[in-house]
Amino acid sequence: MVEENAVKRSEKAGGKVYLALLHYPVYNRNREVVITALTNLDVHDIARAAKTYGVEKFYVITPAKSQQRLLKRILDHWISGVGGEYNPERKAALELVDVASSLEDLIVDLTVEERRKPLVIFTSAKMGKNAISFARLKEKYKKGADLLLVFGTGWGLAEEIFEQGDFLLEPIRGIGEYNHLAVRSAVAIILDRLFGR
Ligand SMILES: C[S@@+](CC[C@H](N)C(=O)[O-])C[C@H]1O[C@@H](n2cnc3c(N)ncnc32)[C@H](O)[C@@H]1O
Repeated sequence: MVEENAVKRSEKAGGKVYLALLHYPVYNRNREVVITALTNLDVHDIARAAKTYGVEKFYVITPAKSQQRLLKRILDHWISGVGGEYNPERKAALELVDVASSLEDLIVDLTVEERRKPLVIFTSAKMGKNAISFARLKEKYKKGADLLLVFGTGWGLAEEIFEQGDFLLEPIRGIGEYNHLAVRSAVAIILDRLFGR
C-alpha cells in the first residue's frame, strides 16, 4: 500500500501539461502562411492520447469563426449529445478539448489562470534554433515547469510563431532520413517519450 502511494506520488511529480494544435499560422505546400481546416481525426485521436498521458487541456487553435463553430458542434455531439452515451471513453477524452483564437491569447490566458507562464515548446520534423532535447525537457518538467506543447498542421508551423515560444523540441527520428510524421503520430510519440512509464 505504502509502495503504491509512493508510485502515485512520483507519477504526479511535475508541472501541468497542455497541448495546442495550430491551424494558423502554418505553411501550405507553397510555403504561404494559411489557416488550415480542422480534421475530425486529429481532434479525436489527439484527445485520446492527451487523456492517456494526463494532459490538462488540448487546445485547437484557429482564428476562423466557422471552424470554431464546427469544433463546438463536434464536441457537443460527443460530450452532451447522443455520442456521449454511445461512447463514454471518447467523451472522457473529448472533454479535454477546447478552442482558442490564437497562440498568443492562449499563453496569456494560461499565465493568468495559473499565475505563471508555461514553457512554450514547439515541435517540428526539422532541427532549428533554441533546440531542447527530450532529456532536458523532461528534467524541467520534473522540477515543476508547466509545459505547453505546440504542434502544427498543413506543411508545419510558420517560423514567425517561434518568437512566441521558449524552445524547439528536438525532432523525432526513426531509422533513416525520412521523419515527416502525421501530427497524431508525433503527439503520441512525444507524450510517450516525455511522460510514458
Ligand atoms: C506538418 S504537420 C503535417 C500534418 C499532416 N497533414 C497530418 O496529417 O498530420 C505535422 C506536425 O507534427 C509534428 N511533427 C511531424 N513530424 C515530426 C517529427 N519528426 N518530430 C517532431 N514533430 C513532428 C509537428 O508539430 C508538425 O508540425
